[in-house]
Amino acid sequence: MASLTIRKLDDAIKAELRLRAAQHGRSVEDEVRNILREAAGAGAISGGTPFRTATYPDRSTSSQNAGNLRATLIIGGGIAAYKALDLIRRLKDNGFAVRCVLTNAAQQFVTALAASALSNQRCYTDLFDSASEFDAGHIRLARDCDLIVVAPATADLMAKMAQGHADDLATAILLATDRPVLLAPAMNPLMWANAATRRNVAQLQRDGIKMIGPNSGTMAEAGEAGVGRMSEPLEIAARALEVVRPPSAGPLMGKRILITAGPTHEPIDPVRYIANRSSGKQGFAIAAAAREAGAEVTLVTGPVGLNDPAGVTVKRVESARDMLSEVEAALPADVAIFAAAVADWRVANRGEQKIKKTASGFPQLDLVENPDILATIAHRTERRPPLVIGFAAETEHLLDNARSKLARKGCDWIVANDVSPATGIMGGDRNTVHLISKDDGATDGVRVDSWPAMGKDEVATHLVAQIAAALQKGAS
Ligand SMILES: Cc1cc2nc3c(=O)[nH]c(=O)nc-3n(C[C@H](O)[C@H](O)[C@H](O)COP(=O)(O)O)c2cc1C
Repeated sequence: MASLTIRKLDDAIKAELRLRAAQHGRSVEDEVRNILREAAGAGAISGGTPFRTATYPDRSTSSQNAGNLRATLIIGGGIAAYKALDLIRRLKDNGFAVRCVLTNAAQQFVTALAASALSNQRCYTDLFDSASEFDAGHIRLARDCDLIVVAPATADLMAKMAQGHADDLATAILLATDRPVLLAPAMNPLMWANAATRRNVAQLQRDGIKMIGPNSGTMAEAGEAGVGRMSEPLEIAARALEVVRPPSAGPLMGKRILITAGPTHEPIDPVRYIANRSSGKQGFAIAAAAREAGAEVTLVTGPVGLNDPAGVTVKRVESARDMLSEVEAALPADVAIFAAAVADWRVANRGEQKIKKTASGFPQLDLVENPDILATIAHRTERRPPLVIGFAAETEHLLDNARSKLARKGCDWIVANDVSPATGIMGGDRNTVHLISKDDGATDGVRVDSWPAMGKDEVATHLVAQIAAALQKGAS
């Protein structure tokens, strides 16, 4: 029997062993013993594939129980690839066995050895690999899983997916799969904003590909910030679990919730429009929180740069009139939440062609009032949702304006916030809101709850909790 001296091993292998040992809280020697024990148990030693274990659940016996889920993780060639190594662990924590595929570019950022050590599975890199292609291994990787996660999803990978390319292992798997695919895009903000990437993202969304992120923040490139950071591994792993096992319980289970978000764009001519600074973040956060609470959610949104929240039916519109038609088409609903900043007016005499500058003066734009979506739905006699909630974005006399809006619009609750530029609420990530509701017990028939400043996600969670409580009481 030969003896093994860890000190004499290759430096990369020693580094991986130290990493694994630290993760498992063992000494390096114990870690090696454990690997050998696992490999022997899985019969992998005779097959010559170290680190491979039999823990990847077999398709024929697999059910979607926690601990028996299977993910193929495709790691793209972006700077965020290092986070994909942590993602392996987070996916495992959520009960997934993980098999990794690295693109050629990904191998410039992380090693296949690290991915296989962390996943305890062989890592795949080549389409033309005789060891795995003897039985069309790329098809196995594409289908022998419950989910494919691509993280980081590079601009290049998304372009290839949108076009249906299959010239390497990652893209061949993505083209050959019939499993859900979750992308976690990560790239420089200018790459994300580029018209080609926008087209590819829209195409992939139409194709039913799910996405998480990117988030906004600072980039690896010095001095650069914006939308393009990959979502955190914890968030991606949570979304992965939700994709394969949608919520089956929650306080809003069985309830239909309709939400509007974002601005509307009212055309002046084919290239110009009237808009406002609404980012849609609050409405999207409410949609995600309602879905998390088990509701069936339809989100009707004006033009925003946000990805569809998982599990939510999203209708994208441009103008107030389009938004009203989609809202009416989405009824009936148990709750309707109107968080969109709908333009009050549209241009009556919009140009069929681009309006040109003339020497004779400025064009005259005639404005007409848009339909009031909140009031229209709140005043319906048929199919009025039992709980109708409006948003009041004000820059002065916040509470007075919100109270009168509650009465004027005929809704049940108003979520009021001060959107003066100094607050940074419009487009920002935090919000300070007051929840104004009808209350027969109060002297003026109105109750005002002022919430402390918090993230828009937290506002969403609080609001959803209030809605769940109100529905449980059977009253608004
Ligand atoms: C240092 C460095 C960092 C990069 N980071 C990213 C990135 O974050 N996102 C991205 O889309 N491309 C990034 N690229 C470009 C990709 O590596 C390149 O488009 C590559 O072809 C992607 O291949 P893949 O999609 O097959 O993984 C980066 C390139 C370099 C040199």
